[in-house]
Amino acid sequence: MKYLLKFSVLFFFLFINVPVARAQYIAVMGALDQEINLLLGEMGKQKKIQIGGIDFYKGKIKGQKVVVLKAGVGKVNAAYSTAVLTQNFGLDALIFTGVAGGLHPESLPGDLVIGERLFQHDFGKFDSLGFSVTPYRELTGRHLTQIYVHSDSLLVLKSQTAAGLVDFVEVTQRRPKIFSGTIATGDIFVSNPEKALWLYEEFGALATEMEGAAVAHICQTLAIPFVIIRSCSDNANTHARMSFEQFVEPASANSAKLVVEILGSME
Ligand code: ADE
Repeated sequence: MKYLLKFSVLFFFLFINVPVARAQYIAVMGALDQEINLLLGEMGKQKKIQIGGIDFYKGKIKGQKVVVLKAGVGKVNAAYSTAVLTQNFGLDALIFTGVAGGLHPESLPGDLVIGERLFQHDFGKFDSLGFSVTPYRELTGRHLTQIYVHSDSLLVLKSQTAAGLVDFVEVTQRRPKIFSGTIATGDIFVSNPEKALWLYEEFGALATEMEGAAVAHICQTLAIPFVIIRSCSDNANTHARMSFEQFVEPASANSAKLVVEILGSME
């Protein structure tokens, strides 16, 4: 009887009273198959589960417990995937990986852009003066005062350090350059030099893509540390579509290589 009592007390403290730690993952998200393929290859043993029409691949990369998924293209797909992801997995962090249109005058295909801050270049108002970007509204309806959502500063630092260590694919005649700064997100594949210049001159954007700010907005709402990593497949100009087709694979690989290095540097 005495032993039974002791055992019950032990059982209570071990299994009832002690909160069960939820498995924490680092999520790695891309929009396209090409953007996540290298990461799935790095995972080795993996378990695939489907929730809400999205395939989630659970496994380990560089010893880190990860969940990898393809979000689909554009802000709606990105927001939906981030919502399903965050409601079904406990996350320590989220890293987005993929390609973008480079906007910096020196940017070439294969270069990397570490997104320090993101904004939606197509969220705003259109009046007699033309189009202007406005800050997002939070779920509560509260107006934000600035258009940018900021990546986690520690993850940005880790990304910058890791970038110096990666053996990137040389897509052009030089080693890929590493840029850090603003990324402009919108539901538009930009292949227009005037629009590209507007994004660079008006907002200092170094790259444009179609998912980052949507993911960033949700991560900010849920207080999940995140960083958006991109590699340039094109220059968002009149040749952008052709350049994208030509460089989507190596640029995706460069972004994914950086993510693998970042994962290796995380405790
Ligand atoms: N992703 C890759 N290139 C892009 C571009 N030019 N515009 C938007 N998203 C992109």
